[in-house]
Amino acid sequence: MNVEQIKEKLKAIHQEQLLTYYDELDEEQKTQLLSQIEGTDFSVLSHIGEKNDTADNAQITPIKALTLPEIKEQEASIKNTGVQAIRSGKLGAVLLAGGMGTRLGSDSPKGMYDIGITKPVFIFQRLIENLLDVVKETETCIHLFIMTSDKNHEMTTAFLEEKEYFGYDKNFIHFFQQDMAPATDYEGKIYLEEKGKLASSPNGNGGWLTSMRNAGLLEFVHKEGIEWLNVFAVDNVLQRIADPLFLGAAIESGCTVGAKVVRKNDPDEKVGVMCLKNGHPSIMEYYDLTPELRDTLDENGERVYNFGVILNYLIEVKNAEQVMNQALPVHVVEKKIPYLDENGILVKPEKPNGYKFETLILDLIELMDQCLPFEVEREKEFAPIKNKTGVDSVESAPALLKKNGYTL
Ligand code: UTP
Repeated sequence: MNVEQIKEKLKAIHQEQLLTYYDELDEEQKTQLLSQIEGTDFSVLSHIGEKNDTADNAQITPIKALTLPEIKEQEASIKNTGVQAIRSGKLGAVLLAGGMGTRLGSDSPKGMYDIGITKPVFIFQRLIENLLDVVKETETCIHLFIMTSDKNHEMTTAFLEEKEYFGYDKNFIHFFQQDMAPATDYEGKIYLEEKGKLASSPNGNGGWLTSMRNAGLLEFVHKEGIEWLNVFAVDNVLQRIADPLFLGAAIESGCTVGAKVVRKNDPDEKVGVMCLKNGHPSIMEYYDLTPELRDTLDENGERVYNFGVILNYLIEVKNAEQVMNQALPVHVVEKKIPYLDENGILVKPEKPNGYKFETLILDLIELMDQCLPFEVEREKEFAPIKNKTGVDSVESAPALLKKNGYTL
């Protein structure tokens, strides 16, 4: 499209502000801006102001979790199943590292954050070392797929190369990039982050499987005979990855998804809990948990909606591929978005100033058949780093690591 056609297009969707500085750009910048506009999916903007599809009309019922005592009872069998599956090359791991980590407020990818005290301990290092424990135990190297985004790909790949992948065999590490979505102000006008560049942000963690496919990695997964993918977040420095017990339990259960869960700290803790929504595994947001649901007890007098997810899933590739072309809901999220002000000066806001558009992995889970919530000990497996201070932070997570015997 030439500039006149782009002008027409933008006028029709009330986004003419994107060409404010067009005449100031050199030829290369002009071409880049026009092609960015052409490649942008503006349809996400229609979701602004939409009512969130909550549990309104859905039928919510409990889902049975495999609890710690039950796992203990079956330990020998599920461990053996898990270890055998890993040794047969049936498991791959997917690290979701495309997020911006805006709450942490670092300009670098979150995985590069150093949580060490007496020595450097990077978040990526902690995760890779956790995975290496299983590699050593099973004497099998596990393919690790790392999702990055346009915003952090170069830095992530350069960092891991410089650190020699923290001892991981680099032939078993595969990067792929997720897609981007535009970012807007509260009126739905897309911001500019440079005079010749639209503000954009990674489009959420829901598209990891289609992004793997687009990068040709699903073919690789099939070629290698990988049947399960352990998908996990970058920020939980305590989680066990490629956990043989979890894999064995998922395989033996006949489920097509497994979700590591922790018992809630208290009934009103603000975490998403596992349930069945219209018979499908689902994660209910804390604000949808009515007092009636919250206080529903099972035959042993225990709360049934009491298991929060920690973003560590086992996903059967075959079942996920069957549903991956279904559209996921687009979530409109308030975030801090750097933008050019009316004087063309870049502003990095202190508070949220607009919307980003994301699809989420939890909506993919809902499309799948049967899920096994698998309980893990919170103190041993859940130390997320979301914030600089306070809850789930650079202060709380190292304290939990130390409690678990790690030297920082
Ligand atoms: P979060 O929900 O914590 O989002 O991501 P975030 O963008 O990293 O952080 P904030 O909200 O801006 O502070 C949970 C996991 O999903 C990944 C993150 O990297 C993290 O592992 N993620 C998130 C992606 O891979 N891509 C995305 O677009 C968003």
